[in-house]
Amino acid sequence: YLNYQVPRTRKEIFETLVKGLQRLEYRGYDSAGIAVDGPSKTTSDRNNNSICLIKKTGKVKALDEELYKKDSLNLDEELCTHFGIAHTRWATHGEPSALNSHPHRSDKDNEFVVIHNGIITNYKELKKYLINKGYEFESETDTEVIPKLIKYVYDNRENDSITFSKLVERVIKQLEGAFALVFKSRHFPGEAVATSHTLSFTHTAQEYEPDSLGVTHSCSQHKEEVHEKNSRNRADSSSAINSVGDGRAVEFYFASDASAIIEHTNKVLYMEDDDIAVVTGGKLSIHRMNRQAGEDPVRAIMTLQMELKQIMKGNFDAFMQKEIFEQPESVVNTMRGRICFDTKKVVLGGLKDHLKEIKRCRRLIMIGCGTSFHAAVATRQILEELTELPVMVELASDFLDRITPVFRDDVCFFISQSGETADTLMALRYCKERGALTVGVTNTVGSSICRETDCGVHINAGPEIGVASTKAYTSQFVSLIMFGLMMSEDRLSLQKRREEIINSLKMLPELIKKVLSLDEKIKAIANELYQQRSLLVMGRGFNYATCLEGALKIKEITYMHSEGILAGELKHGPLALVDKHMPVIMIIMRDACYTKCQNALQQVTARSGRPIIICCQDDTELTKNAYQTIELPQTVDCLQGILSVIPLQLMSFHLAVLRGYDVDFPRNLAKSVTVE
Ligand code: F6R
Repeated sequence: YLNYQVPRTRKEIFETLVKGLQRLEYRGYDSAGIAVDGPSKTTSDRNNNSICLIKKTGKVKALDEELYKKDSLNLDEELCTHFGIAHTRWATHGEPSALNSHPHRSDKDNEFVVIHNGIITNYKELKKYLINKGYEFESETDTEVIPKLIKYVYDNRENDSITFSKLVERVIKQLEGAFALVFKSRHFPGEAVATSHTLSFTHTAQEYEPDSLGVTHSCSQHKEEVHEKNSRNRADSSSAINSVGDGRAVEFYFASDASAIIEHTNKVLYMEDDDIAVVTGGKLSIHRMNRQAGEDPVRAIMTLQMELKQIMKGNFDAFMQKEIFEQPESVVNTMRGRICFDTKKVVLGGLKDHLKEIKRCRRLIMIGCGTSFHAAVATRQILEELTELPVMVELASDFLDRITPVFRDDVCFFISQSGETADTLMALRYCKERGALTVGVTNTVGSSICRETDCGVHINAGPEIGVASTKAYTSQFVSLIMFGLMMSEDRLSLQKRREEIINSLKMLPELIKKVLSLDEKIKAIANELYQQRSLLVMGRGFNYATCLEGALKIKEITYMHSEGILAGELKHGPLALVDKHMPVIMIIMRDACYTKCQNALQQVTARSGRPIIICCQDDTELTKNAYQTIELPQTVDCLQGILSVIPLQLMSFHLAVLRGYDVDFPRNLAKSVTVE
């Protein structure tokens, strides 16, 4: 956060930085740190340009408390021009600790400080080189080579007029890996340099006098417009720029996610790969490395429509709980403007220009990780039926490990809530190199996957903050179904089926509300189960994905062992786990697999198992054999998975609360997994 000629007390600066970090906590939260101007007890040099570093393990709250303990810092001091940086860390190299947390520094005098998202893959070679040059390292991180390297370049500069951005350019030429970086230096007070390489970065600027926004080029067409016309955020056609600010009062925010700054500004500019953004003298400019004169890039300023209240918890105890209960509205937002329930027409704006090409393809490949992968599993069968194409579903990491053959006439879907998951992004680049058409299915406008795919669908579920994905799953599910419906519009033989699905989609929000009304019952069942060590979830056909997704929800937030089992596989091994002590949840809906699922139920009850059955309303046949039942409204077979997953989302939530865990911040996990 940089304020230029805008007086701000140190307390206000802290509050801005800490608030921003809190909004980003879902991305990683094992430690946090901050660097601001001012004297520090650990800094031997106490001149005016000294930088104070404060770092703390644990949540941002712990850092916040620490800030106010620093009696050397006068909280009321007004700083007219100031640049402060802050970071929350999710450990990749080195355990969570204050020393390993960011910002990292060049030396004990904090000449250069840096915050970093991503991984530096050649850090060992660089570290060895710098140690040979006499640099002492204090952390186990890959990041620490960056501030050391910039100091090395600075100390060995040929002339004193070298700029901050030139120094940064020289440093990043030496770095391999993926990174988004922000640099601060006591040699360049009030100046900021940020850059990113294969990781997305948001830069935002708030102008005090909006009229003074520099428009130096005509508007470049932003990927956003290509991606989907009716998305929530729009490129502002009057504001494509390569520089902002004219030396008058201004504030700039750099963030890895718009939620960190949305309460200050809704004007956002997305940096592209290898852009270098520099703020100096209250002016922001963006350039490319090694540019020739006149080659500065033009970037569109977007106006975000995201509201702060969307990212607040409301009356719920946890974001996850709020997001589960938002599903009646979030699925409507996913469908809004895309389905005409009267004419049975479905149009996904971001795909319509590519539909012919998609229809001609050899196969569809659906790629994702975790919950997003489960959304592909959940819709595979109906997509095969509606598109009459072979559909492969792939876990991004495994897809890459196998060096899977991909051809020019393949269409590859990349499903990702965050749009930033490194494995999925790598798979996208892999498919692109092989000439396949790439399609993004994301919840984050302007994310890397959204920008790098040829076309795509925004699922429009709204910000998802709980680490455990819930409403994004059901919206991904609905988006993929809509894609199938769009593909089958001209197939006469499929019209009846399409009609049945479209009519059921219309009813979906009401049915979701009915499922949510079972919350108390589910809580009571959770009360019986929460002390167990293990929980099996079984089903098949359209509800197999629900088993995988339900088990994932349970393991990630309750830390209980849980397994999603294909009921058809029961007798091939998992049945050995079943006895009267093992809790088993079985999903048995009235669809083509009903009889086969009943067989599985017999196998479980014959081993004294006491199944909790998720079934359709008034299924007296099943209630007889159940220890407990959760009865759901019935919908068309291919949408039933949207309803059957909700009791498991609620169950995992209640189990986690009863076991005393922090639902929104499960241990060892982060919302956005930007490392492979
Ligand atoms: C589980 C969960 C993860 C994510 C996975 C992919 O609740 O959230 O399994 O689904 O890390 O993330 P995205 O969808 O952002 O690519």
